[in-house]
Formats: sequence, C-alpha cells, structure tokens
Amino acid sequence: MRDKIEKLLEDVEVFAADSKEQLEEYRIKWLSKKGEITTLFDDFKTVAPELKREMGQRLNELKTRAQDKINALKEKFENQHSTAESTIDLTVPGEPFVALGSRHPISIVKKQIIDIFARIGFTVSDGREIEDDWHNFTALNTPENHPARDMQDTFYVSTLPDMVLRTQTSSVQVHIMENQKPPIRTISPGRVYRNEAISARAHCQFHQVEGLYIDTNVSFADLKQTLMYFSKEMFGADTKIRLRPSYFPFTEPSAEMDISCTLCKGAGCNVCKYSGWVEILGCGMVDPQVLENCKIDSTKYTGFAFGMGIERITMLKYQVKDLRLFFENDIRFVNQFTSAL
Ligand code: DAH
Repeated sequence: MRDKIEKLLEDVEVFAADSKEQLEEYRIKWLSKKGEITTLFDDFKTVAPELKREMGQRLNELKTRAQDKINALKEKFENQHSTAESTIDLTVPGEPFVALGSRHPISIVKKQIIDIFARIGFTVSDGREIEDDWHNFTALNTPENHPARDMQDTFYVSTLPDMVLRTQTSSVQVHIMENQKPPIRTISPGRVYRNEAISARAHCQFHQVEGLYIDTNVSFADLKQTLMYFSKEMFGADTKIRLRPSYFPFTEPSAEMDISCTLCKGAGCNVCKYSGWVEILGCGMVDPQVLENCKIDSTKYTGFAFGMGIERITMLKYQVKDLRLFFENDIRFVNQFTSAL
C-alpha cells in the first residue's frame, strides 16, 4: 500500500492535463467512487494497526494534493475558456446605449439671451407666475378699465379675485424696483399666460424676457445702444435695427423694435412680409409714474425697459414656422436643436 501511495503522489505531482477532458478523465481515475485513491481508503481497513497512523496521514495527503491539483487545473481551463471564446474588445469605445436628450430650443435661446446681457453687466431676476393685480397691472399704469385686463385676454384665478396668471414679465420690474435700490441692471426670463386661441402664431402660454436698467442719467441712446448690441450678438454682426414709436402704459416714450429680416437680410420675403423688417420687442423709458409707484425718486433716476418673446426670437433664429411645435415636445422637432451649452 505504501508503494501505491508513493507512486500516486508522484503521478499527481507531475500531472499536467492538456485539456478539460483529460483532466476529467484523471479526476475519475483517482477520486471517483471507484477511483484509485478512493479504493485505497477502502483498503485502509486492512492496514496493520501499527502502520495505520503513518498510512492514514500519507493517504490524506495524497487525497488533498490530488484534489488541489485538479481544482487548480480546472480553474486554469475555465479562465482560458472565457478569454478564448470571448469576442469582447474592451478597448472599443463605449456605445451610447442611453440616448442623451437635447435642450429645448426655448431653453437654448433663453440661455443665449442671458449670456449676451450678462456680458454687459445684467443680472437675472426671477419672478412669479401667479401674480397679484398690483404687480401685473396697476403699478405698471394699467388702470382697472384697461382693455388688457379683459377676461378675454387674462386668466384670473377664480378663487382669488385679485390674482392672475401673469400676462407679461414686466411684473418682475415692479418687484425689483420695490426691493432694490438703483443702479438696477437686470433681465427676467419667464413664462407668461394669455387667454388666446392656440394657432401657429399664438398660444395661451409663452416665454418673455424683460429687461430693466435704472440709474442716474440713463437715456434713450443707452436703450438703443443696448438693443443694437443684443441684436447683433443674437442674429449676427450685419443685423440692423430700427425703432418705431409705439405705446405701452408703463413706458414714455415707447417704441417697438424691428431687426432686418434674418432670412432675406432686408431684401423682402414672406417672413418679413416683403418689408425687410421683423418686429422683435417692445421698449421705452420707464414712465416716471411707474418709478414713483415703486418708491423710486423719478427726479433723480431714469431708466429703460424692454420686453421680448423668446418664442419669437427662436422662430426667427431657427426659422420655425409654427409656435405650437415648442409645446408639443415631439422628439423629431426638439432633436434638431443641438447646443454647445
Ligand atoms: N410687456 C410688454 C408685452 O408683453 C412688452 C414690453 C414692452 C415690455 C415695453 C417692456 C417695455 O418692458 O418697456 O407686450
């Protein structure tokens, strides 16, 4: 028995399987129910008592070594198997399995507007979408009998008679002037609501950006220069502007500003209705009464304000023909806008 054990210990020591099959063959040969090593354990009963201790130790050693060897080789084959069979190339760049979204065009243009004005020192101010009568109308010289207050134009909050969904971001002007001391230089982007029938050119909700600049000696020339800078930054250096006299209750004098048509560059096309100009915003010098309504000394300070629709700017910039597209969020539409933001 001793010889057998020693012989098998040697065999186990030198054993190196070429394949998984050969390994399995040896496992059966040595360790299965009828395997050589297992059989030796059966034979152990017949070993003389004085040898039992020594034989027992050797036999256990043989079994452990055989098992360890087989396990080690098995592991080796399994690892080999996975690398050989695998076709995964870990150096290939990852595929974007999760499709990345794009920014909404309104957000892209809003950010551009904020950036353009930030470069000349304008901060951003937030307002509120549910507004009281004072901030949306009264403080802005829009008296109670003004047509803009009509139920047809304004959404009122039925349970709160004094509250409306703001119809213009001009309401933020009032909050700012009430709470800050001049100099004030800020823009306020946000959503506004009007009771309009939805069509390609109108919607019951849209976005505006309000601008406000109050200081000593602010003039109409400052307003014009600021708006010219904005127009060139937004629509290109060759953009021209023109101001037409207009009326807003909260500015005096008031104007509407046109830019040279972004599509035909002034030559005339259906976007500009063959005039060469398209209107983009309303503006003016803040009415002294509005300053006083907000407790700002109108003998000391002057200011200008302007307001523009973000949808309108976006439509002109990207030649979008239907306003409703901005609110439908059709992925085929929004995916066309990529941004470096
Ligand atoms: N709030 C005006 C509107 O919704 C736009 C506007 C015009 C804002 C003139 C102004 C302004 O600040 O000075 O049509």
